[in-house]
Amino acid sequence: MADEKISRSRTFFGEEGVAGFTHRAFTKAMGFDDEDMQRPVIGICNTASDLNNCNRNLTEVAQAVERGVWQAGGFPLTFPTISLGEIFLNPTSMLFRNLAAMDTEEMIRAQPIDAVVLLVNCDKTTPAALMGAASADAPTIMVSGGPMLSGHFQGQTLGACTDCRRLTAEYRAGELDEDTYKEIEDGIVRSTGHCMVMGTASTMNSLAEALGIALPGNGAIPAPDARRLRLAEASGRRAVALAESGTRMSDIVTREAFENALALLAALGGSTNAVVHLPAIAGRLGIDLPLSLFDEISQRVPIIANMRPAGAYQMEDLFHAGGIPAVMRQILPHLHGDALTVNGKTVAENAEGAKIYNEDVIRPLDNPLQPEGGISLLQGNLAPDGAIIKHSCASEHLMHHRGRAVVFNGFADLQARLDDPDLDVNENDILVLQNAGPVGGPGMPEIGNFALPRKLLQQGVRDMVRISDARMSGTAFGTIVLHVAPEAAIGGTLALVQDGDEIELDVPNRRLTLHVDDTELDRRKAEWTAPDPQYTRGYGKLYLDTVNQAPLGADFDFLRGKDPVQATEQPKF
Ligand code: FES
Repeated sequence: MADEKISRSRTFFGEEGVAGFTHRAFTKAMGFDDEDMQRPVIGICNTASDLNNCNRNLTEVAQAVERGVWQAGGFPLTFPTISLGEIFLNPTSMLFRNLAAMDTEEMIRAQPIDAVVLLVNCDKTTPAALMGAASADAPTIMVSGGPMLSGHFQGQTLGACTDCRRLTAEYRAGELDEDTYKEIEDGIVRSTGHCMVMGTASTMNSLAEALGIALPGNGAIPAPDARRLRLAEASGRRAVALAESGTRMSDIVTREAFENALALLAALGGSTNAVVHLPAIAGRLGIDLPLSLFDEISQRVPIIANMRPAGAYQMEDLFHAGGIPAVMRQILPHLHGDALTVNGKTVAENAEGAKIYNEDVIRPLDNPLQPEGGISLLQGNLAPDGAIIKHSCASEHLMHHRGRAVVFNGFADLQARLDDPDLDVNENDILVLQNAGPVGGPGMPEIGNFALPRKLLQQGVRDMVRISDARMSGTAFGTIVLHVAPEAAIGGTLALVQDGDEIELDVPNRRLTLHVDDTELDRRKAEWTAPDPQYTRGYGKLYLDTVNQAPLGADFDFLRGKDPVQATEQPKF
């Protein structure tokens, strides 16, 4: 064993005097002995919570990791960090992603651990943990809790939460009665685990394989499947090896690893939220991931995973078809095959033995679901720093569309007027939502896929162009322009749009244009006043004062960039 690589725990347990005495005495109070304290200490960072169904199984996953750590000669110690569940957090879980990242970073730095296992699952828990771990830059491996089983209703497969929205729209339109709607509610979420379509959690937990930070198979093994526990146990064993070799997160998660993640994102038709989270993680490692790189890789890598919401299948189907290793094998020509991963093998070596059991779920490169990846970068005077659209989930007839703006100046205005029978709106209009970005939301909530006006739904309209500075759930469907930057709340052009302006969306040419001349825009800008800040104290104020715009991942400005003082060099008190 290379003792110098596990110097962090040695510093705590091997120290002279009263400090070492108390560290050892309080560890012995937990039932451990001197021999345990000679082993590499593996911190298991657990985001299990009873308020987060997606991460509920992580207590059992942690036990499996602990077994693996003991088997490999390590000393496992599990500790909690903030758990961010999409369903209950108010006003939006994204507001707290950076807080959770700070919690993770500081707990890794502060405690006597030689390597860390990150246990994550729901949408924000994965990027938060990876951001914090990237800043701490200890030897790191990630294990997610896995996707839920597929939902069922009267013989149909249901997906959370693509079908939550689709069927609620049917209910709002009067197409479903109360009893049927209730029956769907009973059957759509069948187990613990994250949402099982290719939403944000499925995307981020799959991309962890391409980043090399999770073992092959991590992305798709269903949460209740015993193979997830076996993967967790193997991850525990690998964490000990990483501690002993001193392999840091930055040795694995390199620029090439991010480019692999972008290729996998394209191949999966993954969530638009990856376009926020990946730059935030990369930024912590001093790596710049411009939106143009997403667009460039997306244009050359086709969507080969036939996954909802862009395609037909769900995570359980992807697992049985071969899982993420099989997808990576198909797109190997687009990957840096020599990139190192946490199991000590390269991406190419991991993909080598992968098998594809269903070529309708995981398509060959020459018979893709769509000829290019699903996310496009849009630019123009309405989004000088960029906006994105998930065109793989949008309506073909709206890919080039010019229409009249119907503007809502915030979510409260949207809620108050959207279903007003007197609202002047028709299906060719473009719905614009302002003040829903990182500062304006605040927290860039997932409301970009807001509902259509009820009166249009009742006329059979199911999609319209919607534009905002918000995000949307990765499980959503529609012609939805997101992440407009700069956002409205800091005076971006989006703030200047008025009812009746002409807007042109041109996806083939990647353009988003507000057809209002510069003189008029300058006049409106001179009259514009910023909305009142929604927080004047506490974490909310810190967030408003320091959050970056979407293209930089909506991270805090003071957390971007590599820490010049490495974790192992921190003074110990
Ligand atoms: Fe957690 Fe959907 S609610 S992933």
